Amino acid sequence: MNLGIIGFGNIGKLIYENLINTEFNKNNKIFISNKNNPKGITNTYLSKNNTEIAKKCDIIIICVKTPQLLDVLKEIKPNLNKNKQIIHTCAGIDFKDINKIYDGPISCVIPSIASSVVKNRKQNGISILYHCRNVDKNSRKIIENIFSKFSYVKNVDNFKDLKLMTITTSCMPAFIAQLTGFLSKELSKYSNINIEEFNELLYETIQSTINILNSDTLNEKEIIEKVATKKGITQKGLNYLKNEVPSVINNLINKLI
Ligand SMILES: NC(=O)c1ccc[n+]([C@@H]2O[C@H](COP(=O)([O-])OP(=O)(O)OC[C@H]3O[C@@H](n4cnc5c(N)ncnc54)[C@H](OP(=O)(O)O)[C@@H]3O)[C@@H](O)[C@H]2O)c1
Repeated sequence: MNLGIIGFGNIGKLIYENLINTEFNKNNKIFISNKNNPKGITNTYLSKNNTEIAKKCDIIIICVKTPQLLDVLKEIKPNLNKNKQIIHTCAGIDFKDINKIYDGPISCVIPSIASSVVKNRKQNGISILYHCRNVDKNSRKIIENIFSKFSYVKNVDNFKDLKLMTITTSCMPAFIAQLTGFLSKELSKYSNINIEEFNELLYETIQSTINILNSDTLNEKEIIEKVATKKGITQKGLNYLKNEVPSVINNLINKLI
């Protein structure tokens, strides 16, 4: 199978690195095209010509920015047919807009930077899969196989769910990084402990807490009960967060959907 990636930015590179890491290229060929010549690729066919990729490949993953998607589809359309499977990774665009330009088999896969290659972990992060009606069972299976080699896949069947899951899995790494960054910066203002040290403490605590929540050891309520004693500082913090955070989260969601 020939697989092409059009657009070698954050997501094109992420998918490429995972394909290499999972040895997809042992039995298949990978082709890449990007507007400008990308760095850091060896032994892979590289081009600036999207049409060439469309001609050569059975699966074409378009990873350009969302406003550029329709132009790329228009450009490669003369070389597409119903046997070629298009995947795009663009958040915020539904099939009804895409189908005005291209009505062949197309799927949306929203990957996550959480799926970056990490030593000793096979699957990281979640890829959301959303197929247009004309994508057959076999193609759905092939796409699921590719992405489940390096991430956990979740299927959705409507655009609203896709948007909500995109917030949860694809935007979230940035939100988490910013929140831990804020916390460490503010904490460091009160002591000689520097931001990096606070970051280390936070990452380990968050990871360990998530491990507990992900196992059957303790649920959310049990953790809270075990940590917070009446009138203690955790309870003070919980009371404060309970008052302030729901409206912040609600506003955030409303900004994004
Ligand atoms: N970043 C994330 O965490 C994330 C997660 C899920 C989904 N997404 C979605 O994935 C898409 C890509 O995001 P990204 O963060 O990877 O963006 P990005 O880093 O800006 O990458 C876009 C790439 O597309 C290339 N490009 C632009 N026009 C092109 C064209 N006509 N033909 C070929 N290549 C072209 C750009 O090349 P040049 O640099 O040479 O201009 C760039 O390398 C977006 O639609 C985004 O919504 C992103």
